[in-house]
Amino acid sequence: MFESNQFHYTDGALSCDQLSLDGLAATYGTPLFVTSKKTLVQSYRSFEQAFADLPHFTCYSVKANFNLSVIRTFAELGAGCDVNSGGELYRALQAGVAPEKIIFAGVGKKPQEIEYALQSGVLMLKVESIPELRSIDRIAALQGKTASVAIRINPNVTAETHPYITTGDSKEKFGIDEGELPELFTLIRQLKHVSLVGLDMHIGSQIFDPEYYVAAVTKLLDIFESAKSLGFAIEFLDIGGGFPVTYDPLKEATPIEQFARKLIVMLKPAGVKVIFEPGRYLVANASALVTRVLYRKRNHTGKEFFVVDAGMTELIRPALYQAHHEILSVTPHERTIVADVVGPVCESSDFFARHREIEAAEEGELLAVMSAGAYAAVMGSNYNGRLRPAEVMVDGSDVRLIRKRETYEQLVQNELLS
Ligand code: LLP
Repeated sequence: MFESNQFHYTDGALSCDQLSLDGLAATYGTPLFVTSKKTLVQSYRSFEQAFADLPHFTCYSVKANFNLSVIRTFAELGAGCDVNSGGELYRALQAGVAPEKIIFAGVGKKPQEIEYALQSGVLMLKVESIPELRSIDRIAALQGKTASVAIRINPNVTAETHPYITTGDSKEKFGIDEGELPELFTLIRQLKHVSLVGLDMHIGSQIFDPEYYVAAVTKLLDIFESAKSLGFAIEFLDIGGGFPVTYDPLKEATPIEQFARKLIVMLKPAGVKVIFEPGRYLVANASALVTRVLYRKRNHTGKEFFVVDAGMTELIRPALYQAHHEILSVTPHERTIVADVVGPVCESSDFFARHREIEAAEEGELLAVMSAGAYAAVMGSNYNGRLRPAEVMVDGSDVRLIRKRETYEQLVQNELLS
């Protein structure tokens, strides 16, 4: 049903690899993020295999799931990281990623973040504007260094996906317009503390049609030729992330091989190292959010609700993007009802599904919200005084706690009573 998924029914219960979600919930409580290590490894391997014929370097985009153990899993497999803030850089370094395998991105880097990235010795910083380039040059000069930079190009390609996650359109804040490049190239030559080593793009997320990449890469390659003719020694072409996954078995994602087939032919002749920054593709289907049914309720119109103990504070994607996540009953039921699955937060948008056919789990039973590995825990919040949930990683019959459940004390630890 999903790409390389280790979640399946065994002995009457939904399990992750060899462990039942019932047992995990009994030990660690709910809500609980359960991540399959095997799925992480398989997703990475299938990505690497698809692009095996292209000299490339895969930088896991840690924004999708920045848990230290998740980052470390990919680092151990040889991946680098794409980070978008000082905090993500700190996480990547803590997880053991070598600084020379880290790319620092972000449309609004603070001077302190640029300092931190340069001090850490990251592979390169992506530049998203001319003022930012000047800022990087100034800070590198203070450190007596030359900063390796890549220009993030805005290829003006509007990929068909949710409007909040398209990024390669010139209406959006991301990257530098083609029209500004002559000025930028001239400036890079004048500045003494930056060295242009890469060109970069990222057109959005959950993109089903490879043709959007083809259109954007065509532009990137044109710019690559111009940069070369101006004498720049470009070592890296960074294509970004955005590769799709299946959330809904009725809408299967385009296989990664189809993207690879088109991109390899285009990019191989360039003779440089290609960088990819997959996030979602590597992690989305590796995790489920396990939640307990607190109440079943029916209103005067006969509409039914499952009120569960997880909500938009753990997985905001349905509220924010009307995203579909499969919801399975941990104990299978033949009978189904049409219901809304809602959380305890005081917002009408706090739902995981609306008017969905759901197995008739009873109060006290568990539901699993699937494909909760990407942009779930990382987008979590403490709204309504909610505690961030525990996270575990399963590998075969082994389970590790990879994030402790938050406590009430932690909720207020940074506040001062005055
Ligand atoms: N590189 C850059 C520069 C990015 O901005 C992103 C994602 C990625 C790589 C990884 O993209 P992926 O392979 O995961 O599609 N919260 C939204 C997704 C936001 C994506 C932001 N940028 C969601 O839940 O769908």
